[in-house]
Amino acid sequence: MCGIVGAVSTRDIVPILIEGLRRLEYRGYDSCGVAVHQDGVLRRARSTARVAELQAHADDARLASGTGIAHTRWATHGAPSEHNAHPHFSHGPGAVDLASPTLSGRIALVHNGIIENHDSLRAELRARGYVFASQTDTEVIAHLVHLHYDGDLLEAVQRALPRLEGAYAIAVFCRDEPQRVVGARKGSPLVLGLGDGETFVASDAMALAGVTDQIVYLEDGDVVDLRPGRAWISAARADGGWRPAERPVRTVHAHTGAAELGPYRHYMQKEIFEQPRAIADTLEGVSAIGPALFGEGAAEVLGRTRQVLILACGTSYYAGCTARYWLEAIAGVPATVEIASEYRYRASVPIPGTLVVTISQSGETADTMAALKHARSLGLTDTMTICNVGTSAMVRECGLAFLTRAGVEIGVASTKAFTTQLVGLYLLTLALARLRGRLDDAREAAELQALRHLPLALQSVLALEPQVIAWAEDFARKEHALFLGRGMHYPIALEGALKLKEISYIHAEAYPAGELKHGPLALVTDQMPVVTIAPNDALLEKLESNMQEVRARGGQLYAFADADTRIGSDEGLHVIRMPEHYGALSPILHVVPLQLLAYHTACARGTDVDKPRNLAKSVTVE
Ligand code: M6R
Repeated sequence: MCGIVGAVSTRDIVPILIEGLRRLEYRGYDSCGVAVHQDGVLRRARSTARVAELQAHADDARLASGTGIAHTRWATHGAPSEHNAHPHFSHGPGAVDLASPTLSGRIALVHNGIIENHDSLRAELRARGYVFASQTDTEVIAHLVHLHYDGDLLEAVQRALPRLEGAYAIAVFCRDEPQRVVGARKGSPLVLGLGDGETFVASDAMALAGVTDQIVYLEDGDVVDLRPGRAWISAARADGGWRPAERPVRTVHAHTGAAELGPYRHYMQKEIFEQPRAIADTLEGVSAIGPALFGEGAAEVLGRTRQVLILACGTSYYAGCTARYWLEAIAGVPATVEIASEYRYRASVPIPGTLVVTISQSGETADTMAALKHARSLGLTDTMTICNVGTSAMVRECGLAFLTRAGVEIGVASTKAFTTQLVGLYLLTLALARLRGRLDDAREAAELQALRHLPLALQSVLALEPQVIAWAEDFARKEHALFLGRGMHYPIALEGALKLKEISYIHAEAYPAGELKHGPLALVTDQMPVVTIAPNDALLEKLESNMQEVRARGGQLYAFADADTRIGSDEGLHVIRMPEHYGALSPILHVVPLQLLAYHTACARGTDVDKPRNLAKSVTVE
């Protein structure tokens, strides 16, 4: 989703801004731009192509300056066109020749988030004579800052912000004040970077990797005033005024090298194959099962937990759905799983003794953050996150945390984050089981052994890739697919369908296999591939009956069955055998061939696997 970089220095910062955008590319975007203060005017370059093309535009325009801002845009209001790309300029009221190539402005601004009252603000600004050059909600902020500007950019921003409803992170500078950038955040992430004689803002510390590792995580409501050698933070007071604020400076070793593809064609493929290592890293240091794995105070919180409420979106939600089966069956703890964007607006009944668990790869997903805050507002104050980014807002906001160690995930389609989330959730299940006397020493030792064997088991699953590639060739010619699973493999079917639709654009749906005859069976023809997750568990017999229902209608079944199962290939039944049956941890193995199937199908269809159309990696707007 949108990415921001801003800098104030005594050296030329254009290369830093462009490199920062490149590091934010993984978040997903459809246009990009950069603006600088140069020769007394504001100058900019924008592009609807990749950051590499923006760099060429910036080079052609000879952009160079010590003050500037840059942006990758993921369109919400207005098409992904050059005139909607940020930075947006405000020239002040009065007609302007929008087609003029020498057009400059007084205020330049970039924004991440959504301004909900943009329509009424636009009408008000139009009435004051402001002319709009884009369809974006962002442009109203640029004009609003201009409206309030009276020689001091910080004051102008501080006056404009209370007018905004919605979520934002912004960076803004003014023609009249070279060597000054002001940033602000509410609901969208923004960090401050402190360098030697230079200061930066960015959506993510990763954008500043190699530039500075001294990072301040700005809090909601903060405004930061950047000058070359210093930065001042102010926070909104309840009475509408502002007070100086101190925020801790952290040394953040944001990675610089994870972007190497190595022998892989795409990041998604690399990340699928990194799963054995990601799981081993996540388990590193786990020598015993217990509350200590989840942070200080966890013993007390888990001790009083009577039920678990999981909040998440997308793939992370499916991790939660899988965990529900574990929590109830193994720990005996009632669990509910809610899609964060639904929960935050639902009039739900809070149950005392609930532990709220958010799951998020990025730790910045707007809906999950809002759902967490909503749960807290209902009095559910015991909170935990299972998250892949230790410095994220989610980790800062939750009382307890389990950090997955998947490493940076670049591909928009989540893979290694999912399997490591499942490991974290399984550990939570075991910790709760232990506290409830449902996990004795012998069982604990066996569970730890099974977890530690997972990386090896995953290697054997990854070795199935050539067989999956053969299937992917069939799938690439289809436009629809059904996925079936039962029990804890139903969420795995959902995840398999999500992966396929996200990156291959094939319409895919998942059902609990028992639901087939209640509707979706009507879709089954010899043109409909039906993927079935068929582990050798207590539900296999039931699942086989569902498979017969498909075969009887000429449907083509593609089954992932365990090594020791009686299911064999036949007319209309294609089978890939998983290397071993893995009991309760089987979902972690069974999802991997589904990731590979989606990946190779997408490759065969020639889609942009790592940056699928319309999608963003970090969904920081509602
Ligand atoms: O960063 P999060 O885990 O909170 O993200 C949640 C979803 O946006 C994410 O899982 C999304 O569904 C992925 N594109 C799935 O591959």
